[in-house]
Amino acid sequence: MAEAILLVGGQGTRLRPVTVNTPKPMVPAAGVPFLAHQIARAAAAGVTHIVMATCYLAEVFEPYFGDGSAFGVTLEYVVEEEPLGTGGAIRNAAQRLTGGPDAPVLVFNGDILTGLDIAGLVESHQAAEADVSLHLVRVEDPRAFGLVPTDAQGRVLAFIEKPQTPEDIVTDQINAGCYVFRRRVIDAIPAGRAVSVERETFPGLLASGATLHGVTEDTYWLDLGKPESFVQASADLVRGIVSSPAVPGPRGEALVLPGAEVAEDAKLSGGTVVGVGARIKAGAIVQGSIVLEGATIGADTIVNASLIGARASVGTRTVLDGAVIGDGAVVGADNELRAGARVWCEAELPSGSVRFSSDQ
Ligand code: GDD
Ligand code: MG
Repeated sequence: MAEAILLVGGQGTRLRPVTVNTPKPMVPAAGVPFLAHQIARAAAAGVTHIVMATCYLAEVFEPYFGDGSAFGVTLEYVVEEEPLGTGGAIRNAAQRLTGGPDAPVLVFNGDILTGLDIAGLVESHQAAEADVSLHLVRVEDPRAFGLVPTDAQGRVLAFIEKPQTPEDIVTDQINAGCYVFRRRVIDAIPAGRAVSVERETFPGLLASGATLHGVTEDTYWLDLGKPESFVQASADLVRGIVSSPAVPGPRGEALVLPGAEVAEDAKLSGGTVVGVGARIKAGAIVQGSIVLEGATIGADTIVNASLIGARASVGTRTVLDGAVIGDGAVVGADNELRAGARVWCEAELPSGSVRFSSDQ
């Protein structure tokens, strides 16, 4: 089946407001680096060759993903010295592809989780004889995305990346970050300079009369730009709301990895992951959260929709809701952190130092 390019560079792979040290594609979601789910899902759809386009050193990915054989794919890494933008990265990575000029090439943004029928998108692309096919989804607030209005046949009429004015908001249909390109279309992207596929390539193709085909598939779709959506994605994977062959265990309310210690009367729910060697003490309640390796959740602590970094510790009776605790941070007992609170890596918050009020 098709070859694929996985985009994992630039802004999209920084966990901007998150204080966990690891680059986002390697932060565990449902127990494994997030990128493992994308690779495993692509492999399950029949993709056999993946080129990872990154601006990071390959050392970030290679120790875990290696040559891809554990996933049943051939995986290669292409490292940009300077970020080439989405279009430039696709052009650069395509040098490693083996298909002919009309071969379909899948391209995935590296920071989304989707239940898309990948093979179905390729079929639809070939049936439409399109130059590029785009997976589209409908969202409530499209402003942070690429807007893609289509006609009744799915033909793309415009591509408006990050609309600036209310008049630009012509549709709630957005670019879901998964494409199928005809190989020759990629080869026509200028080489050796930064190119945005969204701002330059797609509008240029439309202006030149190319066939861009939009496939609006109503499926699970989550953009992981915000840490809270990353935590949500992990929980949804654990619960099986979206499926990934890379989840290391059966679907359920919690995934407890080897060597984790969970007190008998602690309560885990909502797709919580407890990492290798982490400890959950007596009476703690942990819902829909990620507790990374070696972290400790104290007795009678309540943790909801939060990310607890590797080796971090959270003291007795503390309440966390929508919080991110950096790797190695120490949050003392009797604190209350809610609504997007972030504790920096290795920081220490003494017992009884923060409570939350929205002053509403
Ligand atoms: N290799 C490489 N080099 N990858 C890059 C670069 C680069 O210079 N710049 C961005 N990427 C990767 C990011 O890591 C991410 O996986 C993907 O390309 C998209 O870049 P983002 O920076 O995350 O863009 P965005 O989230 O603002 O918007 C994009 O995604 C939306 C859907 O989530 C656009 O494609 C929108 O049109 C789309 O709606
Ligand atoms: Mg993004």
